[in-house]
Amino acid sequence: MRVVIVFVLSALLPLSLCHNWDPFAWLYGRQSQGYYYASLQADTAGGACPDECDCPPTFPVAMYCDGRGLKAMPTIPSRVKYLYLQNNAITAVPDSALVNATNLVWLMMHHNQLTSDGIGRKAFLKLEALDRLYLQHNNLTSIPSNLPRTLRDLRINHNKIEKVTPADLEGMANLTILYLNDNAVTDMGSSLRALKSLTLLDISGNKLTKVPESLPEQLHQLYLEYNSIDALPESFLGHFSQLQYIRMAHNQLTDKGIPANTFNVTGLVELDLSFNKLERIPIVSTTLQHLYLQANQIKEFTLGSFCSVVDVTNFSRLQTLRLDGNEISQQDIPTESSLCLRLASTVEI
Ligand SMILES: *[C@@H]1O[C@H](CO)[C@@H](O)[C@H](O)[C@H]1NC(C)=O
Ligand SMILES: *[C@@H]1O[C@H](CO)[C@@H](O)[C@H](O)[C@H]1NC(C)=O
Ligand SMILES: *[C@@H]1O[C@H](CO)[C@@H](O)[C@H](O)[C@H]1NC(C)=O
Ligand SMILES: *[C@@H]1O[C@H](CO)[C@@H](O)[C@H](O)[C@H]1NC(C)=O
Ligand SMILES: *[C@@H]1O[C@H](CO)[C@@H](O)[C@H](O)[C@H]1NC(C)=O
Repeated sequence: MRVVIVFVLSALLPLSLCHNWDPFAWLYGRQSQGYYYASLQADTAGGACPDECDCPPTFPVAMYCDGRGLKAMPTIPSRVKYLYLQNNAITAVPDSALVNATNLVWLMMHHNQLTSDGIGRKAFLKLEALDRLYLQHNNLTSIPSNLPRTLRDLRINHNKIEKVTPADLEGMANLTILYLNDNAVTDMGSSLRALKSLTLLDISGNKLTKVPESLPEQLHQLYLEYNSIDALPESFLGHFSQLQYIRMAHNQLTDKGIPANTFNVTGLVELDLSFNKLERIPIVSTTLQHLYLQANQIKEFTLGSFCSVVDVTNFSRLQTLRLDGNEISQQDIPTESSLCLRLASTVEI
């Protein structure tokens, strides 16, 4: 009886999907029973599923092709919204690969072997509903062209990208999350200007020598650690109303490169300036909660960096203060510090 069902189904499948498809697979256990039934039921309920992927019958809009040693893109039925292709060895996305996949909402292609030469200029052009695109841990040397403007979450970290141009991100008004960390970016020009909704920007682990211009005003998290930034622009934080987390550890920042009162802005929760070349504690807002300054060259504990006056209501909200790996010791901290830093539960010298 089973054999008959299988034959009927295979006759209905488009030819491209029958390629390599063995209707007797269940007989000699080439695939596990569960896997076999999964594809079979999906075929009955929601449409075709390529042999090398799984389409769960209870969730026919998802297609799982991850971790199967794939070297090329499978055929993608147009019903699919969530496509999992990560952890394979796919090198290319030709223009034709996604033409029918116009309903895609998530496209997961991280941990593959994608190169920029392998990605067609129009490969992603038709994906007018795409929300998440994960391309991290590939061999890309540039951001693919014509990415859908609908994207909200783009992860392209751990590639070999050297340059980001305004055209790459133009019109992405809804992009909220951008992971570009661990690439080789030296300059971003004004490419971030268009990202009106961006709240998280991670460009750590690149080759930046300055803070990118036109940082989006809605940012909540800005991660710039492991670059070669030695100076900050004047009133660098004045443009932001939501910024809470700044990480700039492992750069080349010096006192001279930080304009006065740069960090004396309310709203900041966490500021990480560890592993730089600071000799003084910068002035920070009394509302800051976590300050990381370890492994600098700080020679003096300046209480005025935290509190300009101290009374019942004027004191620092700092909870964490790390000053270890500098040129000061416990004795350099004046006793009146406890009034200003009254909430600091972790102070490491
Ligand atoms: C896309 O759909 C067309 C029409 O159904 C079909 O001829 C073509 O082979 C499909 N292409 C891919 C890559 O799935
Ligand atoms: C991707 O990069 C890795 C490591 O740099 C290399 O071994 C591999 O051959 C590259 N793959 C392609 C398709 O270029
Ligand atoms: C951004 O999202 C809004 C609301 O969901 C939508 O109307 C708009 O078309 C989107 N913009 C782009 C560029 O996709
Ligand atoms: C930080 O800014 C506040 C508010 O603008 C101001 O009152 C305070 O004096 C500044 N702190 C220092 C140490 O300059
Ligand atoms: C200290 O607190 C008082 C009362 O909240 C406030 O009016 C005053 O401006 C504060 N002084 C400083 C320098 O922040």
